[in-house]
Amino acid sequence: MTEKFELIADGLAGSGYAVADDFLTCEEVSAILSLPLFVNGMEGFRKAGISKQGAVHSEIRGDYIRWIDPLTADQATKVYLDRLQDLIRYLKQTLFISIQDAELHYTIYPPGTFYKRHLDQFRKDDHRKLSVICYLNPGWKEEQGGQLKLYMEDESEKIILPEAGRLVCFRSDLLEHEVLPATRPRLSITGWLLDCPAELRHL
Ligand code: OGA
Ligand code: MN
Repeated sequence: MTEKFELIADGLAGSGYAVADDFLTCEEVSAILSLPLFVNGMEGFRKAGISKQGAVHSEIRGDYIRWIDPLTADQATKVYLDRLQDLIRYLKQTLFISIQDAELHYTIYPPGTFYKRHLDQFRKDDHRKLSVICYLNPGWKEEQGGQLKLYMEDESEKIILPEAGRLVCFRSDLLEHEVLPATRPRLSITGWLLDCPAELRHL
């Protein structure tokens, strides 16, 4: 894993983003996909909002989310949370960034839904420093859509497929991005590394 962490730190320090494949193994992804919350069809999910107040606007974003409480998370999810903690420790040591906590949710985009171009920091709350997304979609094909499109500072664009086990990490204050519509459900765990304690305000 150290090599992957190194690659992520280099990407963040350079262009502000990084992609690491196999951050989770196939088996680790399968274990998460076998959880009742996914198997029983969006159990405990609700439609995501676009502000801290949670106003729903389907013309901007159409995904469903379920916040994760790290204290009560199941074993399969904890494997991911623990690896993320290792990554946070590494990033703190190498990039000297102040990360205190993380907030994460499971995410499902039903077919045809999307998230228009946006920035992850809120206007009145800049505690989100890094956006971190791990995809859970085995065998994703390009023609199925669902790409993450990152708008880079030099005006180039990065296109990333939401393939299972792949981790994407980018600067929440810097990089605008969007999620394109897909022809199959698009699953992930989405999170943010914060420079303050998570309030668990979402639970
Ligand atoms: C988000 C987001 C990107 C993705 O949830 O804010 O931009 O690839 N997600 O799921
Ligand atoms: Mn986003």
